[in-house]
Amino acid sequence: RVHDPVTIVIFGASGDLTHRKLIPALYMAYAQELLPENFTIVGLARRDYDNEVFRTMLADSIAAFSRVPPDDETVARFVAHIRYHQGDISTPEVYAGLKEKFQDVETYPENRLYYLSIIPSLFETAVRSLKESGMVAQPGGAPWTRVVIEKPFGKDLASAKALNAQLLRHLDESQIYRIDHYLGKETVQNILSFRFANAIFEPVFNRSYVDHIQITASETVGMEKGRGGYYDEYGAIRDMITNHLLQLLCFVAMEPPGDLSADAIRNEKVKVLNAAKLDVRKDISDAVCRGQYAAGMEEDGQPIKGYLEEERIDPASTTETFAALRLIIDNWRWAGVPILLRTGKRMAKKTTEVAVQFKVPPLQLFQQIECEGDVCDIARIKPNTLIFQIQPNEGIFLKVGTKRPGMRFVVEDVKMDFSYSGTWNKSLPEAYERLLLDTLHGDSTLFTRSDEVEAEWRVVQPIFDQIDQLKPFAYPPAAWGVPEADWLFHGMEGAWRNK
Ligand code: BG6
Repeated sequence: RVHDPVTIVIFGASGDLTHRKLIPALYMAYAQELLPENFTIVGLARRDYDNEVFRTMLADSIAAFSRVPPDDETVARFVAHIRYHQGDISTPEVYAGLKEKFQDVETYPENRLYYLSIIPSLFETAVRSLKESGMVAQPGGAPWTRVVIEKPFGKDLASAKALNAQLLRHLDESQIYRIDHYLGKETVQNILSFRFANAIFEPVFNRSYVDHIQITASETVGMEKGRGGYYDEYGAIRDMITNHLLQLLCFVAMEPPGDLSADAIRNEKVKVLNAAKLDVRKDISDAVCRGQYAAGMEEDGQPIKGYLEEERIDPASTTETFAALRLIIDNWRWAGVPILLRTGKRMAKKTTEVAVQFKVPPLQLFQQIECEGDVCDIARIKPNTLIFQIQPNEGIFLKVGTKRPGMRFVVEDVKMDFSYSGTWNKSLPEAYERLLLDTLHGDSTLFTRSDEVEAEWRVVQPIFDQIDQLKPFAYPPAAWGVPEADWLFHGMEGAWRNK
C-alpha cells in the first residue's frame, strides 16, 4: 500500500486516457486498498463541468472499463475523492486556481503527482508554469513532486533531446516519469524473471546458440476514432517501434543488472540501445521496410477503409501503418545475431510476442516431420524457439522436437507451455495500475530515463534521414503486413512467424 498522502492532478482530464485507463486503474488500486488513506484526484481540463458531473462521468467510465465488475458503494466512496478544475493550461489563471484548490483539499503534506495527459507541445508550458507558481517541490526530499508524461517523447532524435532539455530545466530527472505502458505489462516484466531467476536459459542466450530474435506487435484495428491526426504525423515506427518494441528488445537482450534498482536496470537497457543499430549492408532498405494498409472487405462483405480514406489522414500521406526492421546489437553477447522487429495496424491478428530462435543441431540424426491435421511430410530439422507471448494468451512457450509415438523414429515439434490463465486463476493487473502505483511509491524502474529515450531515437534516426528511399508498400487488411518485409531475412534461413 502507498502510505504518502497525495494529490494527483490529471492534466487533460476530459480525454480518452483518463476515462479508459487512468481512473479505472486508480479505482482498482483503491478497491484493493493500495492507495493511501488521504488522497485527492483533481481533473483539469477546458470543458465546463462541475464536480458532480465529472464524478458521474468517471463512475460511468469505471463501470465500462474496470478490469473486474466494480462495486457501487466502493465507486461512490472513490469518486468522492475527485474534484474538477476547469481551465486552459496555457493561461496563468489556471495555476492560481489550482493553488487555491490545493489549499482547500490538502490537509496533509503537499505530495503531488502531476499526470500530463496532454499534447507534447504543452509539456513545457505546464511544467514551467507549475514551477513558477511554486507548486513543484525540491527533488529528493519531502514533500515530493512527480510528473508523469505520456509518449511521444519527441519525433526524432533532435526533438527528443530538445524536449528532455526543456523538462530538465524545470525538473530533476528523478521527478520525471516517462510512461511506456508496455513495461507495465505483467508478461514483459516476466521476461526479466524468466531470464534471471532461472539458471538454465541464460547460458544459451547469446550468439553461440541463438540464430535470431523476432519481435512482433501486430494489431487488427485500423485508425481508432480521433487518432488520425496524431498517427499521420507519427506512423508505426515512432508510435510503436521507438518505444514499445525497443523496450521489449532491451528486456530480452540486456545483461543481468547488479541489483534490481531502477538505475541498475536502466543502465543495462541503455547499453543495449547504444549497441543496437540498423543492419544496413548496401542501403537502408536492407534493414527497413514500410507498408500502408489499403482498402478491403470484411468476411461479411462490409467494406474496410484504406488508411488514406481514414478520418484526418492526408489522402497523399506516405506515413507507414506497418514497419519491419532488422537490427544488430554490436556487443559480445549478440554480435551478428539478426534482430527482427515488426508492427502494424490492420494485420491478421492481435498479438505481441518475442521469439528467440535457436540454432539447429549440427547433425540431422532423425527424420523431422511436419503435420497439418493428419497429413505429415518430411521437413527440414526445426530449431527450438522460445516464445514470450506478451498478449493475448499470456505465457511462455518452448518449441522442442520429440519422438512421435509409433514404430518409426521420427521427430515432431511440440510446445512445452506455461500459460498465465492455466497457472494462476486470476485476472492480470492492467499496465496502468502497476505504473501508477509505482509513481506513487517513487519507483522509476519501469519508466524510461532521458538518456534511454535519446538512445531509442538514435537507433531509428537513420530511417527518418533516408525516408525518401523507403516508400511504403500497400498491403490488404488482415494480412501479415507487406510481403516485401520477407526480404529482411536475406542471408538467413528463417521467416516471419505468421501465427
Ligand atoms: C499505443 C499506440 O502506445 O499502443 C497505439 O499509440 C497502439 O497505436 C497501442 O494501438 C497498443 O497497445 P496494446 O497494449 O494494445 O498492445
